[in-house]
Amino acid sequence: MKKKIGVLVSGRGTNLQAIIDAIEKKELDAEISVVISNKSDAFALERAKKHCIPSVVISHKDFDKREDFEKELVNALEKSGVDFIVLAGFMRILSPFFINKYKNRIINIHPALLPSFPGVNAQKQALHYGVKITGCSVHFVDEGVDSGPIILQCAVPVFDNDDEHSLSKRILKEEHKLLIKSLKLLIEDKIVIQGRRVICKGEF
Ligand code: GRF
Repeated sequence: MKKKIGVLVSGRGTNLQAIIDAIEKKELDAEISVVISNKSDAFALERAKKHCIPSVVISHKDFDKREDFEKELVNALEKSGVDFIVLAGFMRILSPFFINKYKNRIINIHPALLPSFPGVNAQKQALHYGVKITGCSVHFVDEGVDSGPIILQCAVPVFDNDDEHSLSKRILKEEHKLLIKSLKLLIEDKIVIQGRRVICKGEF
């Protein structure tokens, strides 16, 4: 049976699009069973609609407590029977309540080589620091900010004439590939977690 993926988004959704494309091209043997956005105007929702993928808006603003917001997320995810959850530009921190429910089944894509430059504006942070190489990371989500075990990373050079836009664009191109590679490993059960280390089995 095909593994079911729930994708959580807040914005434009190019990483969501990369998953949709990989599934349509049969590079990924999975199905997106739901897209959840905490923002009603996220362009990612249009992408889901265009490809007839069920989507739901759950706004954090409608809840006083984080846990109530997350309970609603869990309801939607359970209804669609997800096996894995991808945070693809989802701009909310998840509490231990949510993380423990889906232990080692939530992954996130981050536009830097973690543990460097966690949190928001990672590309800007890299430029300000003056690193010559940055990149992207796909990692399991734990209770911290971008701090879970790293599945795969890809290095991206920083050029002297880069600004935030040009650097983000170069990184984003790699993000899309890295996310699919990571999801493939996860779906094909080729990942072993040993403490902080994630061992990927086989060729990819
Ligand atoms: C990406 O840069 C991702 O690494 C970060 O948020 C951005 C989301 O972009 N977590 P998109 O919505 O997938 O286009």
